[in-house]
Amino acid sequence: MQLSFDYWLLRVRRLLLVLMVTASPALAQVDSAQTIVHLLDYVGVDYPEAVANGKVKNEDEFKEMVEFTAQAAALLKTLPENPRKTALVADAGKLAQLVRNKAAAEAVAASTRNLRWAVIDAYKLPVAPKTPPDLGAGAKLYQAQCAACHGAEGRGDGLAGVKLDPAPSNFQDRERMAQRSVYGLYNTITLGVKGTAMSPFGQLREEDRWALAFYVAGFTAETADGARGEKLWKAGNGRQAFPDWVNLATLSSNELKARYGEEATAIRSYLIGHPDAVTRDKPPPIAFAQQKLNEALDAYRKGNQAAAQQLAIKAYIEGFELIEASLANVDPELMREGERNMMMLRELIGTPMRRIDLAKRRLALAEPEPFTLANLTTKSLVLSSGRGMACRPGPSPGGISACPRRRSGSAPRTGRNAGRRPRPWP
Ligand code: HEC
Repeated sequence: MQLSFDYWLLRVRRLLLVLMVTASPALAQVDSAQTIVHLLDYVGVDYPEAVANGKVKNEDEFKEMVEFTAQAAALLKTLPENPRKTALVADAGKLAQLVRNKAAAEAVAASTRNLRWAVIDAYKLPVAPKTPPDLGAGAKLYQAQCAACHGAEGRGDGLAGVKLDPAPSNFQDRERMAQRSVYGLYNTITLGVKGTAMSPFGQLREEDRWALAFYVAGFTAETADGARGEKLWKAGNGRQAFPDWVNLATLSSNELKARYGEEATAIRSYLIGHPDAVTRDKPPPIAFAQQKLNEALDAYRKGNQAAAQQLAIKAYIEGFELIEASLANVDPELMREGERNMMMLRELIGTPMRRIDLAKRRLALAEPEPFTLANLTTKSLVLSSGRGMACRPGPSPGGISACPRRRSGSAPRTGRNAGRRPRPWP
């Protein structure tokens, strides 16, 4: 049940983030806090260029890292009072110390990451777009306002950028872009980079800045990887990583890989170019659960218990669980039954085959209906078909049943089992 617990933690955090996005914090406060996040982002990405193996690799970069972390710490002190401010200031001090001591890149990356999230959390910064970014609008804006420096294809080779030092970023640089989140790009677009030709574009509307950030991120995302991601996404994968835009916006490709595996980065590539798919292509949760249960059965039959277990967990977490709350309103007993059945299924997958055979035989004696996984969720399926939610079998007041007609494959039960609830497994 460890996974379930982690998942809930994650969901609570994500919910909090979503709430933050909709909250409207005082603007000035957002500005400084956003600048801190922005500085931390840069330190996380650029530090390995400055220090390697405890030695300064590039003096200028190192000075910048020292300056950025000192600035972040100083700015933090100026933020409005907040119950977590003291701890944040202390952590910022520790980070600045790590950088001055030329600590290992992993330690600095972890420290910047933690502090960045803590600031976002404490000061309720918006981290994801509120509406699907319009990439068409992003492309137009890019050509009009950015291509002169960054180049028509984002290679950092625009005519106006030729003599600039530092040079305009190359958005086709895969290694660097894999470390950048869309939110990080959005922050750069909003706040600019002090001391460079990259001026702030805060005067553009928020939607336009998000559209630009997604468009820019798309230069490396739209590739063969994206095509694979599209297939994966359309087959119903990646819903845990991308239930909304928060992870898509806030996690870099590298962070996603570490947290959700390689497939998630391919799906990210696709979704960056099609952010509206996050809300559009959600399969109905029960259909998804059904599909994963069938796959679990397949895996189980092939003797792959571990895969079957994972698929059954997926069926629950990314399928059934999503409708639990609404189902509980309509039919709490059915909700609990579904929950029990899914749990029993997970337990059974971990049970030696011999015991299941025995249980099956016992069940077959008592219940002549074919024993299939599908039986477990048939009722939930009926419920999920929309009309089914309000539908109770039996004549309605007008004498006509309000229920959709049964498909021929699931004829009503007759004979001695008519009207009986399917039994839970032993
Ligand atoms: C006058 C030239 C110029 C224009 C116009 C310009 N930029 Fe930049 N941009 C730069 C430079 C130079 C940098 C590199 C700053 C640095 O080295 O830190 C940069 C950096 C960036 C970065 C950071 C990339 C990273 O890897 O961190 C983003 C994102 C960005 N620009 C987006 C835009 C967008 C979007 C526009 C148009 C709205 C735009 N820029 C317009 C010069 C320009």
